Amino acid sequence: MRRFRPETIAHPIIEVNIVPQIVILPHPQLCPEGAVIDAPVGKSLCDVLLDSDIEIEHACEKSCACTTCHVIIREGFASLEDATEAEEDLLDKAWGLEPASRLSCQALVGEEDLVVEIPKYTINHARELH
Ligand code: FES
Repeated sequence: MRRFRPETIAHPIIEVNIVPQIVILPHPQLCPEGAVIDAPVGKSLCDVLLDSDIEIEHACEKSCACTTCHVIIREGFASLEDATEAEEDLLDKAWGLEPASRLSCQALVGEEDLVVEIPKYTINHARELH
């Protein structure tokens, strides 16, 4: 009896490098023209911005102790990991808080594209204005 062996098919290893695109909406001082940045998954939004010469404030040096790095995620919010309780508590003090607000030093890029708005003011500016 003749035996048939299943052929061994070499499957190519498909490597997919996901590099989400981060659209930064124009901000009058920090990024007047807006920007489009290719960002690695897992990097904090704050570092993505700073590495692209968008000098977002980060008064506590990204240790989740201020709110100056506040951003609003206009698209792709659900692709980010949930905020921790500490981040949520701090966000309550952020200027211009919205449901899609995040602290950019705590929000890590997920696998989807994002549209990010940097609020006009930080809590520091808001204090200066009053
Ligand atoms: S830099 Fe202070 S909370 Fe992000």
